[in-house]
Formats: sequence, structure tokens, C-alpha cells
Amino acid sequence: MVELHGSYVRLRPVAARDATRLREVLADPTVARWWGDPDEELAGVLEPDEDTASFVIEYADNVVGLIQYSEEPTPGYRHAGIDIAVHSDWHGRGVGTDAIHTLARYLLDVRGHHRLTIDPAADNASAIRVYKRLGFRPVGLLRQYERAPEGHWRDGLLLDLLATELRPVARS
Ligand SMILES: CC(C)(COP(=O)(O)OP(=O)(O)OC[C@H]1O[C@@H](n2cnc3c(N)ncnc32)[C@H](O)[C@@H]1OP(=O)(O)O)[C@@H](O)C(=O)NCCC(=O)NCCS
Repeated sequence: MVELHGSYVRLRPVAARDATRLREVLADPTVARWWGDPDEELAGVLEPDEDTASFVIEYADNVVGLIQYSEEPTPGYRHAGIDIAVHSDWHGRGVGTDAIHTLARYLLDVRGHHRLTIDPAADNASAIRVYKRLGFRPVGLLRQYERAPEGHWRDGLLLDLLATELRPVARS
């Protein structure tokens, strides 16, 4: 696995030594609300499925979050999906935007994907704003797509991005 450098962030493959910090990220209430049980999610990050890769997001020498991609290997449907979590102490500084942009560039330019997807909960408005600003477009509502921490099924929003649509990172 490679290490990726964005304008401000570094994405490096997750290592066993990251477990404690990544659990803190996943247990942060603003993250856990949109991800799942921190221990279950951590297991999936530390030992991902065959077609999934996990990176820590480093910013100013701190581990501030994690980002993953999952590739659909079937040739006729080839694409990659992205998941991200940034600890709330580091929100609003451009970390998430730069991390997604950096991973998207890698998936398009190096891994050769023509299409990327991301599937936040439909009411995760701040995440959806970040994704749209990068060029992702809403495709449609995924009804009762995922189980919320409270136990009920909630809708997801599928967004996708084609290779020519990725927008550069703008920083205020
Ligand atoms: C969604 C998420 C990854 C975004 O990460 P982030 O680092 O906060 O994202 P950014 O800082 O790039 O953008 C967030 C906001 O800060 C603004 N911003 C970006 N850089 C900025 C800067 N240098 N100064 C001030 N504001 C800035 C952005 O314009 C954006 O504004 P908006 O909320 O009005 O759209 C993060 O909020 C998160 O992990 N949330 C919890 C888990 C989650 O929802 N994961 C996604 C599941 S699909």
C-alpha cells in the first residue's frame, strides 16, 4: 500500500499501532452518529476485507481521522467507494475535503477507476456539502439503507463522481 500526499494531509496505511487513536476517532459522538459501533468499525478498519484499503489521515503531525476505499472487482461494474471519518476537534479546517480529493485522485489516476461513489446517511448534510463541493453528484435515495445507532433503519444518499468531474480543493 502506498502513502498519499495532499495539499495539507498525508494518508498512510493503517498500522496496528493506530488502534487506540482510531478508536478515539470512531467513538467521537459526531463520528459514531454516522458510523457504527466503534469496536466493530475499528475491526473493519484494522483488518479490512480483501478489496478494501484503510488509511489514517495525518494533519500537522496528528492522526486526525481515517479514510477507506473499497473496490468493486467485477470488470463490468468496476468502481471504488470511499468512507471517511475526521475527529470533531479537526473539523472545518479542510482536512476532509483534502483527504477525499487526494484519495479520489489516486483512485482515478493510479488505480484507473472511471467512477467513484460515496453513500452518506441522507440527513448527513455537512458531509453531503463537502462531497458535492468536490464534484460528487446525488444519484438517488437508498431507502432504509443502514441501521442507525439508535436501532432504526435510515435512508442513505448515493452520490457518484466521474473521472472528469473532480474539482480542485479551494481553501479559505
Ligand atoms: C464529513 C467530514 C469528513 C468532513 O470533514 P471536515 O474535515 O470537517 O471537512 P472540511 O473541513 O473540508 O469541510 C467542512 C466545512 O469546513 C469548511 N472549511 C474547509 N476548510 C476551511 C478552512 N480552512 N477554514 C474554515 N472553514 C473551512 C468547508 O467549507 C465546510 O464548510 P460547510 O460545512 O459550510 O460545507 C467530517 O465532518 C466527519 O468526519 N464527520 C463525521 C463522520 C461522517 O459524517 N463521515 C462521513 C460518513 S459518509
